[in-house]
Amino acid sequence: MTQDLILETKNLIKAFKGFTAVDDVNLQIERGSIHALIGPNGAGKTTVFNLLTKYLAPTSGCLLFNGKDITALPSASIARLGIVRSFQISAVFPNLSVLENVRVALQRKEGNSFHFWKHERVLNRLNDKAMQLLDDVGLTGFAHSKTLDLPYGRKRALEIATTLALDPELMLLDEPTQGMGHEDVDVVANLIKRVSAGRTILMVEHNLHVVSKLADRITVLQRGAILTEGDYASVSADPRVREAYLGVSDDEPVAPVVQPAGPHSIDVAAGAGA
Ligand SMILES: Nc1ncnc2c1ncn2[C@@H]1O[C@H](COP(=O)(O)OP(=O)(O)OP(=O)(O)O)[C@@H](O)[C@H]1O
Ligand SMILES: [Mg+2]
Repeated sequence: MTQDLILETKNLIKAFKGFTAVDDVNLQIERGSIHALIGPNGAGKTTVFNLLTKYLAPTSGCLLFNGKDITALPSASIARLGIVRSFQISAVFPNLSVLENVRVALQRKEGNSFHFWKHERVLNRLNDKAMQLLDDVGLTGFAHSKTLDLPYGRKRALEIATTLALDPELMLLDEPTQGMGHEDVDVVANLIKRVSAGRTILMVEHNLHVVSKLADRITVLQRGAILTEGDYASVSADPRVREAYLGVSDDEPVAPVVQPAGPHSIDVAAGAGA
């Protein structure tokens, strides 16, 4: 059976002054899937994201997007190609309204950022699109609120809306539920599920409850290398994964973490073996 891969990394390596943060990683991301990248603190997850967005250049190895080698492309080309990382490119402006933020993102997508003299009809069309995106992320009622005044979870929803405005083919989310309370975690998890229709999502997520709920496939990183891959059932039943997180090995599967204990809900696990 041939897989339809949107993104592949081949023998990806990133070394910092002799320390190998990403060690020969071969990722295969299937089109249309939600793929989670998990692993203990310092495993190399964010570094992989930085390599995918060309924020960092790899020491060696290559990146393929839709079968095309993009290793040599500058970071500015990556978003235009359709790879968009949320909470970075899509930073929101605190003093603009929620609606204005989405409109700015839409204008950026259309390359019109400075055409403020645009015909009213064009602006109205942008408004309609922006309202649709706000509806998609459950923010209709907040359209005219100042972004600064949004509750934390809603701000994340707005960041997702501004990312969606760029119409990404592949959306990268680095810890979308980080620092959230229980209710916001569920809201954002449901939102990710909803907006995943027709796109591919690669997410770093420490909350294993969210991973179990969303991810079609999971790659576990440990000390820069892939430890194992599979669906939630197989990965969570793998004693090596348990050992990586808990520093202990036994036959018990890793239980989904429902209540985040802090910024990283499995920090306790990561530190337990030290
Ligand atoms: N610019 C850098 N220079 C030197 N070392 C770095 C740099 N960036 C990351 N590292 C190191 O590479 C390793 C992987 O870091 P990375 O941030 O990718 O981990 P992570 O899996 O995202 O961890 P976390 O779960 O804490 O976010 C760490 O040991 C980190 O200290
Ligand atoms: Mg990280």
